[in-house]
Amino acid sequence: MKPVELKNGIFWVGAIDWAVRDFHGYETPRGTSYNNYLIVDDEPTLLDTVHHDFINLSIENISRIIDPKKIRHIVINHIENDHASGFENLVELVPHANIYMTDKGKKGLSKFVHLEKYKIHTVKSGDSIKIGKRTLHFIETPMMHWPDSMFTYIKEEKILISQDAFGQHLATVERFDDEFVDKCSMVELEDAVVDYYANILMPYGNVIKGKIEEIKKSGIEIEMIAPDHGVIWRSHIDKVLNLYSDMVEAKAKLGAVIVYDTMWHSTEQMVFPIAKGLEAEGIPVKIFKLRSTPKSVAVKEIWKYRGLILGSPTLNNNIFPSIAELLTYLKGLRLKNRLFSAFGSYGWSGEAVKEIFEYGKSMKLELFEPGIKVLYKPSEEELNKCYEFGIAFGKALKDYHAKT
Ligand code: FEO
Repeated sequence: MKPVELKNGIFWVGAIDWAVRDFHGYETPRGTSYNNYLIVDDEPTLLDTVHHDFINLSIENISRIIDPKKIRHIVINHIENDHASGFENLVELVPHANIYMTDKGKKGLSKFVHLEKYKIHTVKSGDSIKIGKRTLHFIETPMMHWPDSMFTYIKEEKILISQDAFGQHLATVERFDDEFVDKCSMVELEDAVVDYYANILMPYGNVIKGKIEEIKKSGIEIEMIAPDHGVIWRSHIDKVLNLYSDMVEAKAKLGAVIVYDTMWHSTEQMVFPIAKGLEAEGIPVKIFKLRSTPKSVAVKEIWKYRGLILGSPTLNNNIFPSIAELLTYLKGLRLKNRLFSAFGSYGWSGEAVKEIFEYGKSMKLELFEPGIKVLYKPSEEELNKCYEFGIAFGKALKDYHAKT
């Protein structure tokens, strides 16, 4: 895709990754983009590079605007591979450019690149550089997404380059939020923001909350937020800031998500009476079967709702592997403030339900015990018990939600 001008002399020069469906284990059914930005000023400056598979596309985009050899400054806002693995190819063209990153960025990137060959300048919050008519201000944002991360604020243009924050894994030719909303919808864009947050940034909610408050208090004016993935925010900045304000508080709606897997459909048969019981209590329910649904899609919905019920058969005295994978993933994402329970079928000893609760306990979730398990195949009586379990969980969920 060709460069796109954000404001006079400032261009998106990144690449769209239409094909990626597995982003370090996070399923990305809608692909993604690797955004970087070129500022044409007295001293041309590149903000971020892109994934190494796409760096030639970015260099081609830069070449459509200026000779890449004219770049005087390169800012590395974040060193994760999707943004900085193209750095070496890029910097070969301009080995004498000034390169700016945080101290942690330098330490991290030096594990991948022989940085001693280059003119590295470490920067911290409050530092700035003048590149001609424009000034770049650096704002450290550790753990948003990695320890090295920072934002760059282009003061004269009121543009915040926010690397991972406010991004979305969306492959789309629409480069701006309003274009995407016109062609698709705000619902889809919000969904992509929540999906990204739930699967990437969820563990760092408190840090992000503090940083957003700090930026708001600083009084900097923002007319555009340009992340390193997805669309650029220019028409719905308040919307994305409000979404983030809600997400950092881990706000959840009254509702339950049932995620399950099944071997011979016995655990699956338990799902529907449980859901009916929940619905009888007026609880909205969403149901996902793993191995049919990517776990990142289930996580996005888990993020939205207050109740979580996992269903797993016992396989070889253990939790079924797809559910165990989800639990490991959720534990890493530090899910919190959820009413949590479990169910499943078993053949002889039936450890899965107990072990799922062990995970819930270690994650400090509110446990709704003892869950429910059935031998081999649920009988009519056991299906009725599943329904009663759904009703009881629904009642408890309403109480829990009211005080959370
Ligand atoms: Fe898009 Fe943390 O990298």
